[in-house]
Amino acid sequence: MSEPVRVGVVGLGTVGSGVVRLLVESADHITRHAGRPIVVERGVVRDLEKPRDLPLAADRISTDIHDVSRDESISVAALLVGGLEPARSMAIDLLEHGKDVVTANKALLAEHGPELFDLARRKGRSIAFEAAVAGGIPIVAAIGECLAANRIESIRGILNGTSNFILSTMEEEGADYAEVLAAAQAAGYAEADPAMDVDGTDATQKLAILAHLAFGVWVPWADIPRTGIEQINQELMTYAAELGYRIRLVAVAARVDGRFAMRVSPSLVKIGTPLAETRGAYNAVSIVGDAVGRMFFHGLGAGQMPTASAVVADIIDTVVGRTAITFRTTGVLDTDSPAAQIAGVEMPERFFLRIPVRDQPGVLAGISGVLGRHGISIASLIQHESGTAGPVSLVIMTHACPPSAVQQALADIDASAAVEGRSVCLPVLDDWQPASRKAEA
Ligand code: HSE
Repeated sequence: MSEPVRVGVVGLGTVGSGVVRLLVESADHITRHAGRPIVVERGVVRDLEKPRDLPLAADRISTDIHDVSRDESISVAALLVGGLEPARSMAIDLLEHGKDVVTANKALLAEHGPELFDLARRKGRSIAFEAAVAGGIPIVAAIGECLAANRIESIRGILNGTSNFILSTMEEEGADYAEVLAAAQAAGYAEADPAMDVDGTDATQKLAILAHLAFGVWVPWADIPRTGIEQINQELMTYAAELGYRIRLVAVAARVDGRFAMRVSPSLVKIGTPLAETRGAYNAVSIVGDAVGRMFFHGLGAGQMPTASAVVADIIDTVVGRTAITFRTTGVLDTDSPAAQIAGVEMPERFFLRIPVRDQPGVLAGISGVLGRHGISIASLIQHESGTAGPVSLVIMTHACPPSAVQQALADIDASAAVEGRSVCLPVLDDWQPASRKAEA
């Protein structure tokens, strides 16, 4: 049997603990895949006093990153600390000291990826990051390696397990937003700051990484328009269901006439289609490649063991040398990647509008007049009797139109005296994904 490979695990929180458990409990199986044993030599934590039930001796755990970076017996470090600092400094320290790095930190990659990848290349080391996007789904390998022969046309993904858990639980149990968010935190799905899950930041950072792998361009994640799920309530879900849809937080990136459109937004997805049937902490990614056609990936996108599954697979790939080959020979997260301008690139779509209006004569005519002036055609309309004197919801489904036309029309509508409060506008993903003409010819 070959010499064991020694690994340092930096961060023994939800994911780090799962990685240690998996490496210990599945050691035989992992040894078979790696060709030699992989042992956890050291763990690094922020707080030594925190109780931990781990198969790692207490004298192997410290608070000092140098215990991993300066230990020459360790060749691979799993960096499983969230946020930007100290994660960035730790990554630099590990790479400077010759460690290959495996990480699940998408915020770090979305913000500092090119800088860290550049350092890794200069040092002859690698960074593997399968766990950073869509948890246990091997989407980074799928796009970066398995689909490499394809020109990727589009990606649609449910990329945040916490927000999907919140939306699908609210929908199925009629539960309240705050109560379901607390359950997602207790289950270990949510980020340390759950605002990043529900405001779309986490999904947008993951989309920036996937779009880079798929299209070879680099878009700063903060440039991608994003809307979170905070405004989604039972009323919107009920109207969506009446029209045959569910609401999901969907990240979209697509080629449009030689440029790229990207966004993250709560969207209506047709009941019975794969994205609509994605529930709980599951993630889903649908991709169209020109040769392969439509593909759909589904699996747990958050949680301890699904994420640990991706981290340990990356450790094995690094140990056997697969990561080094793809890392050095491809331009992933290269500082020279061309930047893509996504501002102003429009994908005509249908929209779901919920407008709180006064229940008075002429209001409907006024609103349809504004939509008409902006070239927006109404596909269907719902107004239920309210039985009260307060505003009533007018729900409109449009035909396909440019997003900018809807935004301008809604600005006019919301400024009208007949509207009490702000309207909600959600894109509608009718066809679960356009086909590839080449693949289906
Ligand atoms: N907070 C993330 C999620 C964890 O809910 O998807 C995985 O990145």
